Amino acid sequence: MSSIPTHSSFSALNAIPLDSIYNLKELFAADKHEEKVILGSGVYRDDNSRPWVLPTVEKAEEAVNKAQDSGRYEYLPITGYAPFHTAARDLLFGPLGEKVTRVVSVHTLAGTGANSLGARFLKEALKPSAVWLSDPTWVNHYNIWELVGVEIKKYPYWNASKRGLDFEKLIDQLETEAVPGDVIVLHACAHNPTGVDPTKEQWKIIADLCEKKGLFPFFDCAYLGFASGNLDEDAWAVRYFESRGTLEIAVAQSFSKNMGLYGERLGAFHLLTASADAASKAKGHLSRLQRGQVSTPPTRAARIAATILTTPELFQSWLLDLQEMSSRIKNMRQLLRDALVSLGTPGNWDHITTQIGMFSYTGLTPEQVAIIQADSHVYLLNSGRVSIAGLTTKNIKYIAEAIDAAVRKSQS
Ligand code: LMR
Repeated sequence: MSSIPTHSSFSALNAIPLDSIYNLKELFAADKHEEKVILGSGVYRDDNSRPWVLPTVEKAEEAVNKAQDSGRYEYLPITGYAPFHTAARDLLFGPLGEKVTRVVSVHTLAGTGANSLGARFLKEALKPSAVWLSDPTWVNHYNIWELVGVEIKKYPYWNASKRGLDFEKLIDQLETEAVPGDVIVLHACAHNPTGVDPTKEQWKIIADLCEKKGLFPFFDCAYLGFASGNLDEDAWAVRYFESRGTLEIAVAQSFSKNMGLYGERLGAFHLLTASADAASKAKGHLSRLQRGQVSTPPTRAARIAATILTTPELFQSWLLDLQEMSSRIKNMRQLLRDALVSLGTPGNWDHITTQIGMFSYTGLTPEQVAIIQADSHVYLLNSGRVSIAGLTTKNIKYIAEAIDAAVRKSQS
């Protein structure tokens, strides 16, 4: 007769709710309504609500398939596929000349892997008293830094009444409360979830502050080329911090959105240091951390991305794909704003078109979000964040009417 243990060592665990973005996907999957729409996770969809394999990725897949040899499933070096992470570094920083000796790049499991590797490394190397995260930020930033065990502090970012950046408060708080050695996580472009970025002038003031206070800037760069359709524009903040020559910086770079390689988990962590010696020591530490967690990263997507980044015709073709995605998103922003204005939906909706990137932080309240979900089967995050990529010319009217009805109902 089989028996079971009388007691579980795990029953005393506290219950942890599922991540809000993934929980929404489960609720959506369980909903049987015909017109249901999900505007949760930041994933690109075409105008038929279908995932889009970038035409350039398809061409690169062919090239990679042809070139595959018996070594294609071999282990990569611990820091990953060098043709990929060097091309990723050059894409991000532009030509660095002799400064490349001061940069360490590691191929990671997407942006999350890069954020996590960076957090573990910075905790060990800098022993920060705190990490500063924007309020709000991507939900997983909290998770990543909590798991690493560094105290999390929030710097003001979103001003709900202005529906824009709370720049003065951001500077004031960091000025008065941050201490040397603290890490500050910055979104390189297309801030997630608000879609609001600092202006170039404001970035300069943030860089001054980092320098003056000895804060360590750690950029999360998930939307390079995807935000504006222009790589140089989207890389501006990172390149500006680098070009000052006075700051050491780290960057977590993702290829999930800009190459549509979501499930392939492709990213890179870059650390720009003050000397080649520091870079070489940091490389040793990063390699140990990587070895202890994944040993070496997977190969296939890195080969695809390296092929795109280093083949001029494919690179040009990828720029067109980026244009296609970013302009469809801009178009959807315009249509949603115009639809709400023509419905006379109470409130001002101009921020939908001034925000950039994958998301709009609509200003819808949790109560309105709940009404939209219950009455119209449209799923968005409680924070009011909408993934604009989920809008299409076919569903936009339905979504605008759902928002309109919920805003009116909550005010009645
Ligand atoms: C998002 O914010 O929706 C995306 O970055 C997907 C994710 O992993 O959370």
